[in-house]
Amino acid sequence: MNGTTSRNDFRFPDGFLWGASTSAYQIEGSPLADGAGSNIWHRFSHTPGLVANGDTGDIACDHYRRWRDDIRLMKELGLAAYRFSIAWSRIVPQGKGAVNTRGLDFYDRLVDGLLEQGIEPLVTLYHWDLPSALDDRGGWLNRDIGEWFAEYARVVFRKLDGRVKKWVTLNEPWVVTDGGYLFGVLAPGHKNLYEAPLATHNTLRAHALGVQAYRAEGKHEIGLVVNLEPKYPASDNPRDIAATARADAYMNRQYLDPALLGTYPDELRDIFGDAWPEFSADDMRLLKQPIDFLGINYYTRSVTRDDPTARPVRASRVRQSRHLHTELDLVVWPDALMDVLLWVTKRYGPVPLYVTENGSAFYDPPSSEDLVDDPLRTWYLRNHLRAGHRALQQGADMRGYFCWSLLDNFEWAHGYSKRFGLVHVDYATQQRTVKGSGRFYSEVIRTNGACLAHG
Ligand code: BGC
Repeated sequence: MNGTTSRNDFRFPDGFLWGASTSAYQIEGSPLADGAGSNIWHRFSHTPGLVANGDTGDIACDHYRRWRDDIRLMKELGLAAYRFSIAWSRIVPQGKGAVNTRGLDFYDRLVDGLLEQGIEPLVTLYHWDLPSALDDRGGWLNRDIGEWFAEYARVVFRKLDGRVKKWVTLNEPWVVTDGGYLFGVLAPGHKNLYEAPLATHNTLRAHALGVQAYRAEGKHEIGLVVNLEPKYPASDNPRDIAATARADAYMNRQYLDPALLGTYPDELRDIFGDAWPEFSADDMRLLKQPIDFLGINYYTRSVTRDDPTARPVRASRVRQSRHLHTELDLVVWPDALMDVLLWVTKRYGPVPLYVTENGSAFYDPPSSEDLVDDPLRTWYLRNHLRAGHRALQQGADMRGYFCWSLLDNFEWAHGYSKRFGLVHVDYATQQRTVKGSGRFYSEVIRTNGACLAHG
């Protein structure tokens, strides 16, 4: 970076990619339309008691039908890029086998619509909505899922790679395992220590086989998206320091080490005990596939202490009660975004980075028909962008930033009770209203960050 920029100059490099993110099940609605198969979130949300208020993604933001209006909204905000995900069960309703062209056509039109407005699509192939038919075959516990995923990915690459230039295999494999197979708060809702390592390994195999499929079919770039949460020890007691290393291995290195270095962190054996299998050398070689960029989702940091009762990691988070927390009770800590970007750069070598998600849920109801004032989200955004800029100046190769989320949407097990959008959605009428934070973000984009010097 230009060493002469002053401390208050927050301009980002020319061509920096400003975007916003969503995912299929969280916004689309119409999950079974046009020949789509059921997915595990459809099942999970229709099982009484698993999602707050009995909410489902049946309608969500009705984006499946309102996508043209939503593209207009993106244009109005000035987005240069839009990250969305493709629902596997729309393309291959049974997860493997027959392809549903009507499902493919939806994304085909969406991509064309974006490109017509000069908005670059960044496409995630898997954001947690596994076809139910594959769950019936064991889902992420079945080793064959790597091949099923690659087969689905190939279909999508062939259709869209001429126009989509940035691809992501999986969104946040840690959440797939931790929420889906270990603690059961997310679909498919299993709680099984022995399953978790298998789910981890099979997500990583799917990622690797997806990248290999792309090298055979695609002409552009492909990467992986992970959620990272830097861990800091609560004290200099060696027990807290060891607990912090375990928590870091579990959440941050469990996926990056195998995908980028070809090894699992040693701490995982200590954490999982005899539930951690030995994986073959061939598999480990497969997992390490060169990627073109890494996507980082950053929401919060964690101060960690030793806690023998918190199985299996034996570490817990110390609440920073004097600091601002979001509605999901996550502490707001902008500087840790800088730390995490620099940590990745140092540990894994210079790799092109995108912040593929960063955002916050706060209670911010509309104050009138066309006004949603959300100063806390604006504060969150401003300070995370400043921290990202500092990371850039210190050598992180950060090429873009995607705010989570474009729209208020279905926040998984929280249903519609938590709102992350730059744009407010009235779920009764589907009316969209750009929030104060959305206007602020537009100004950031318009000035390429220069306006971050104020306020
Ligand atoms: C996920 C999103 C989710 C967001 C906010 C991320 O972990 O990728 O789907 O809505 O966090 O909780």
